[in-house]
Amino acid sequence: MPLIPMRVLLDHAAENSYGVAAFNVNNMEQIQAIMQAATYTDSPVIVQASRGARAYCDDSYLRHLMLAAVELNPSIPIVMHQDHGNSPETCQSAIDENFTSVMMDGSLLEDGVTPAPYDYNVKVTQQVVIQAHQRGVSVEGELGVLGSLETGLGEKEDGHGAEGPLSHSQLVTDPEQAEHFVAETGVDALAVAIGTSHGAYKFSREPDGQVLVMNCIREIHKRLPNTHIVMHGSSSVPQDLQDSFRKFGGEMRQTWGVPVNEIQTGIKHGVRKINVDTDNRLAITSAVRKVLSENPGIFDPRQYLGPAREAMTTICINRMESFGMAGQAGSVPIVSMDE
Ligand code: G3H
Ligand code: 13P
Ligand code: ZN
Repeated sequence: MPLIPMRVLLDHAAENSYGVAAFNVNNMEQIQAIMQAATYTDSPVIVQASRGARAYCDDSYLRHLMLAAVELNPSIPIVMHQDHGNSPETCQSAIDENFTSVMMDGSLLEDGVTPAPYDYNVKVTQQVVIQAHQRGVSVEGELGVLGSLETGLGEKEDGHGAEGPLSHSQLVTDPEQAEHFVAETGVDALAVAIGTSHGAYKFSREPDGQVLVMNCIREIHKRLPNTHIVMHGSSSVPQDLQDSFRKFGGEMRQTWGVPVNEIQTGIKHGVRKINVDTDNRLAITSAVRKVLSENPGIFDPRQYLGPAREAMTTICINRMESFGMAGQAGSVPIVSMDE
């Protein structure tokens, strides 16, 4: 089965009322974990690479790893997505590398840290839509700046994210402006700001509607019933993962992520793509810590990377089942990029 455009998968998800987890990858084991989980649950997948991941992995390795994923999993529809493209050039380079979907994150300027004016966001996103749609590639835009409504700050833990204080109106996407943005740009999917942020430290307590504004999603979905909504920063940072990370020497203060049941509510109101990276990072690192601390004599990487891959597979299976993706792989229409 060829890689398919994201639009086709998200349309199918909307018709069948499920959400698709988009998992970040940086190496072979992470791609294998996603594909094992997809095979086990019969789920379609979105594999995504950030700019940092593309630099770390090298585009060439990534392209060939994805070719292997396609070849070895003929019954799984796969989307290859550029996460947080910072410019039309980055998105074009992903299109040239056979990505089937790109995110133009024009909520920030190209530096990845400065909140961008609305008109800039519209301009660069429009440009990417023109470039991408010519090649059958789908486009995700972002309106609103990711960051915490508890602190009024963005985060820069993963190398991008707003610096400095952000106002409430920057941190929560305006539904009326979202309607204009989608009409002006023609994006296939829209990432929104609702108080989530990347990384482990999202909330200092179980989030309520003041700090995780699910109502905003309801409002946007009412105005834009045909636009696929994307939730970034949607790791749940479960307590058991935090505990096992700490148990084997990891340092992490108590934190809360986005509860899975809130994501399920989002899925009922138009959320079709849910970005998850931190939970997999935590699962992988906890597994490595456990193996190495229990077996200090080990130096064969397979002995810790294997359990790390299994730990990520478990997270992916859980999210695929929770978001309703399981069992959907066979009915996703197979549309090649040419079509
Ligand atoms: O965008 C957030 C993802 O967690 C990717 O992070 O830029 O460190 O690869 P990264
Ligand atoms: P988490 O850090 O919550 O996993 O979010 C990942 C993400 O949004 C990638 O774009
Ligand atoms: Zn993100």
